[in-house]
Amino acid sequence: MKEKSVLSGLKISVIGAGHMGQAMVRGLVIKSVYPQNITVFDVDAKKLNALKKETHIRLAKSNRQCVSLSDIVILAVKPQILREVIEEIASSLDPNCLVISIAAGMPIARIEQFFKKPVSVIRVMPNMPALVLAGMSAFSLGKHANQRHRKIAEAVLSAFGEMEQVPEKMLDLVTAVSGSGPAYFFLLAEKLIEAAYESGMKVDVAKRLVYQTAFGSGKVMLESREDPEVLIERVASKGGTTEAALKVYQKQGFGKSVHDAVKAAFKRSREISQGK
Ligand SMILES: NC(=O)c1ccc[n+]([C@@H]2O[C@H](COP(=O)([O-])OP(=O)(O)OC[C@H]3O[C@@H](n4cnc5c(N)ncnc54)[C@H](OP(=O)(O)O)[C@@H]3O)[C@@H](O)[C@H]2O)c1
Repeated sequence: MKEKSVLSGLKISVIGAGHMGQAMVRGLVIKSVYPQNITVFDVDAKKLNALKKETHIRLAKSNRQCVSLSDIVILAVKPQILREVIEEIASSLDPNCLVISIAAGMPIARIEQFFKKPVSVIRVMPNMPALVLAGMSAFSLGKHANQRHRKIAEAVLSAFGEMEQVPEKMLDLVTAVSGSGPAYFFLLAEKLIEAAYESGMKVDVAKRLVYQTAFGSGKVMLESREDPEVLIERVASKGGTTEAALKVYQKQGFGKSVHDAVKAAFKRSREISQGK
């Protein structure tokens, strides 16, 4: 129900109407906020106009105008231009405004420094399924952010998925697990489709089978909350087809590949956070 939440009457600005910015705006408009309470700016006027047509949000003419009179500012631009954007908006920001940054690998301390004044910051690591309002976000509070800000951030993030508060030092690992995670599942889907095709199935049929299987498996995990091991046992009967497949995975080191891949993503995420 719209405007019956902690976001009631709050003015929200979104800077950057790319993939994530648009997903957030759509989620907010569908789930909790009146479009007239959302103002968006992006350097790309085409994206802005298309988003306005679809969601009826307000458009700003500049980043500065976008944030003035806002209670919440969502920074949804690429990390490389975050500093430039913050320097542009800093003087127009209301002192009580909450800043939510989704820039990957940009530590809260650096964001706070860029503002050159005390600002309440919440850093979020969302993931790509936010595009279909099924995202998983982890977030951390900056030193000036309080429990009211936490509730606001939760209300914003719940508009496009689930969320979990974590200590900031955990965000690099979050990036390696749920941030990059959708690509791991997509890779498995790609390989399943290829395997089905090689064994004689049409690609479009294989794709349909694999996508629905991925959706159904995700739904079972979410609804049952059982450990994967228990769910695997329910599919794999002794001497059956699944067991034959699982033996191959085990023999060829599937588990180790996954562990090593996550470690590599974790290492890279820490390097990016350190500006390397
Ligand atoms: N995509 C993901 O799966 C994902 C996951 C987690 C976190 N994130 C984070 O989310 C943020 C946005 O990612 P994205 O994938 O949505 O990127 P994106 O699609 O490139 O969106 C960024 C938007 O900002 C615009 N922009 C560039 N300079 C600007 C400026 N000075 N003022 C206002 N807008 C400006 C860009 O326009 P132009 O294209 O014309 O430059 C673009 O429309 C990034 O910080 C990223 O690290 C993304």
